[in-house]
Amino acid sequence: MRRKIIAGNWKMHMLTAEGRALARELAPLGKEAPGTDVIVCPPYTALSAVGEVLAGSGVHLGAQDVFWKEKGAYTGQVAPAMLVDIGVSHVIVGHSESRGRFGVPEPGMDDAVLAHFGDSDKTVNLKLRAARAAGLIVLCCVGETLAEREAGQTDAVVSRQVAGALEGLDAGELAGVVMAYEPVWAIGTGKTCEADEADRVCGVIRSEVGRLFGGSAADAIRIQYGGSVKPGNAGDLLGRPNIDGALVGGASLVAADFAAIVKACPA
Ligand code: PGA
Repeated sequence: MRRKIIAGNWKMHMLTAEGRALARELAPLGKEAPGTDVIVCPPYTALSAVGEVLAGSGVHLGAQDVFWKEKGAYTGQVAPAMLVDIGVSHVIVGHSESRGRFGVPEPGMDDAVLAHFGDSDKTVNLKLRAARAAGLIVLCCVGETLAEREAGQTDAVVSRQVAGALEGLDAGELAGVVMAYEPVWAIGTGKTCEADEADRVCGVIRSEVGRLFGGSAADAIRIQYGGSVKPGNAGDLLGRPNIDGALVGGASLVAADFAAIVKACPA
């Protein structure tokens, strides 16, 4: 039986005082849900403050991204060891927003602007491997856009992203990877992927892991669903055989909603 894993992705929300206050409300979840891994991922600037509040609570601290080099002339980047240094244990890589694939495109976000969010399958792989080498648990996101879904490309896109992200990993590196299926069209849009379909695509991800690393790796790897997860749909999603957790955006900013999602995990 795979252990459930619920992560809150705060995205670009929360100044330090707000983050501390939310973390104080979430800290009891570590004890209240001992059978579930609970992670909160504040922005870089609030990591230390939130980490101080969560210390000893059993709720884990995650970052939203990381760079792949150990150190050097990389202005604006954050190295894996820098995250470990401040108590971070988990990190998201390959989020669609870091790949420039937005569920809710904004006016003015033309290609020249989107190029700022430049993750590719290759950089996701570099980030994932560097994070694992530093001992971080990686939450690795994959998912198709609406156009790709409508063109019947969902399974091919997701499989390609999985293979790209995991290229060259050994079994030890893979043991600290959690996959997250995040259909781009469901992120921040209020449109949740139907639980049956989310479970099916998580099964596609599991099969791809099996093709690359063998059956026992496929059985062992945990796969989250993300995209408009809320208290009202969490129980249905989390009860599916291929869905081992949730990566929660908007609802993770409301303590009661995030707690309800954590508690929706089957015991
Ligand atoms: P959402 O975001 O829950 O706000 O849709 C999920 C995510 O992007 O991880």
